[in-house]
Formats: sequence, structure tokens, C-alpha cells
Amino acid sequence: MAYSGRNRKINFNEPIPQMIERLTREHRSFESKLEEVEHSVNINNDSGYAAQIIRNMSESVIHHAVEEEARLMRVIMQKAKQESAESIKIMQEHNWVMNFLKNRLTGIEKTVKFDSETQPQQQHDEEQTKKELIEFVTNLREHFLEEEQIVFPLVLKANLLQ
Ligand SMILES: [Fe+2]
Ligand SMILES: [Fe+2]
Repeated sequence: MAYSGRNRKINFNEPIPQMIERLTREHRSFESKLEEVEHSVNINNDSGYAAQIIRNMSESVIHHAVEEEARLMRVIMQKAKQESAESIKIMQEHNWVMNFLKNRLTGIEKTVKFDSETQPQQQHDEEQTKKELIEFVTNLREHFLEEEQIVFPLVLKANLLQ
């Protein structure tokens, strides 16, 4: 996948059932951050703070996604290939997550710096920014749900096969 670089290692010795439990716990922790993002945008009207929260969770989200691709997809492709189509599609959603975190977020961070005087163009940008932040929250929540309903159960089932 598009990701390369950072140093955090993938632990290939962690047993799959434990890993699934941990990834699920990480989803809950990411979701509480997403709630803060939503609150900052909708209630406090503070897209700058919302972007900062996302920036702070960015590395963990990327590592989480890389682990899913490296370990879960391997189990699925080795032991449940015939049932893999939907899971592959869900894993491909990591592409927009990565794209948002690596490209769009930087754009948003630039936009929110210039919020002093409100010209029509900036007002438009501000609305666009809010929309993108809320879209990120909605899409990521949906992604977690799909993983927990489709990918994780398939991995657990496949992991039991010889
Ligand atoms: Fe994922
Ligand atoms: Fe996940």
C-alpha cells in the first residue's frame, strides 16, 4: 500500500485473537477522539482544534491500518481467499484515510490559520473545511464498523482453519 517510512514495527508474534481484541479497543479509543473532532466542528466552531486532534491521532491510525493490511489480510488470503472480496474492498478504504491524513489535513491546517478577517472566499473555505472534517469522522466510523462486522469475524474464522 501507499504507506512506507515510519519506524513502528509490526509484531508478527501477537496471536490473531488478541490482536483483533486490541484493534477493536483501538477503534473505541479513536472513536472518542472522533467525537471530540465532531464536537469542535459542530459545537465550538473550531476547525483548527479539530484538525489538531486528527493530527495527533494520525500516526496511530496509520500504524493501525498498516497492521491490518500486513497481518489480517495475510490470514484471509491464505485461508479464506474465496470469501475475501468484501474484506479487500474495506481494506482499500485505507487509501482515502491515508490520503486525507497525508495530504488534505495539511491543506486544512493551512486554511484554518487565516481565520481573522472573513472574506467570501475564506467563508467558502471554512464551510468546505468543516464538511471535510465531518466527512472524515463519518467515513472512519463507518470503516471501523465494517471491519468489526465483516473483516474481523472472517479473520477469526479463517485463523481456526489449518
Ligand atoms: Fe482499517
Ligand atoms: Fe481498524
